[in-house]
Amino acid sequence: MYIRQKKSWELSENKVTPESVYLTRRKLIQQTGLAGFGLIMGSAPISAVPIGGFPPVRNTEYTLDRTLTSEQDATTYTNFYEFGSSKNIWRKAKKLNTDPWIVTIDGLVDYPIQIDAGELTKKLGGMEERLYRHRCVEAWSMAVPWAGFPLSNLVKFASPKIGAKYIRMETFFQPEIAPGQKQSWYPWPYVEGLTINEARNELAFLAVGLYGKPLPNQNGAPLRLVVPWKYGFKSIKSITRFTFTDERPRSFWELLSPKEYGFWANVNPWVPHPRWPQDRERMLGGGTIPTQLFNGYEKEVSYLYKNEYTNNKRELFY
Ligand code: MTE
Repeated sequence: MYIRQKKSWELSENKVTPESVYLTRRKLIQQTGLAGFGLIMGSAPISAVPIGGFPPVRNTEYTLDRTLTSEQDATTYTNFYEFGSSKNIWRKAKKLNTDPWIVTIDGLVDYPIQIDAGELTKKLGGMEERLYRHRCVEAWSMAVPWAGFPLSNLVKFASPKIGAKYIRMETFFQPEIAPGQKQSWYPWPYVEGLTINEARNELAFLAVGLYGKPLPNQNGAPLRLVVPWKYGFKSIKSITRFTFTDERPRSFWELLSPKEYGFWANVNPWVPHPRWPQDRERMLGGGTIPTQLFNGYEKEVSYLYKNEYTNNKRELFY
């Protein structure tokens, strides 16, 4: 396993976390006791359980090379096309009712299930907080504390069959409360996908919280994906379905414009995009910095792509 040395310029944890929520990785694993989580079989929906565990415990393995974005910026400048194409949709998103929230896990799995998001997250171990960078293909970026669970815990919970190679994820479809979904030229519902190996990578995360609190609707309540080495559009919000499949999913943006939004969508400063620069990024709150390959997570994820590409890093975008 790669052991990361802290760089001199990195923000120290005690600048952003109260001491009371520190825990070492070891303690965290002891607390989560993942090995013991049980499986629920069958397909009957289960009654709603609130998502608990706040404030989350900071996992100090995940550090930043920049200052944290303010909560105000990260929660009022958002992309959620279901509520419109402007960044200022946070008021409109309040209409989404996220409790109860039934999540379906199906496809090539041993235990297809429909389960309330609160109940599901109780099955996924102890909640942890991670500081991650986020880079949108539109060339803006932020750095925020997500709370949630490794996606690999959900993969274990679902117990995929041998033939399952991908996970297809889907957002709700409720045009009566989400005005963007009345725009019929978009291929609703929003869909994204990962390979199973990407989903098992330690960085792939299912977030239920932000800044130590439950996720606000505009950031993808109650459950969203966070894959920080990929462009932000891969991090699908308000997930209602995880389907394990042997077919590569075709995502919302890929269906709309395959030349602009590929399946892999790994952050890559060397692959130009027709609309936005990819070699530099504008941080919410101020400042422009160079964009890094895999958004700076190359050591953690590059092994995933050895068989997918030649050695030419310029091909990694699509
Ligand atoms: N998920 C859904 N369902 N709908 C969306 O429009 N936008 C994506 C992604 N997930 C989007 C989505 C894009 S383009 C980005 S950059 C991120 O969410 C933005 O996440 P944030 O608004 O929490 O910063």
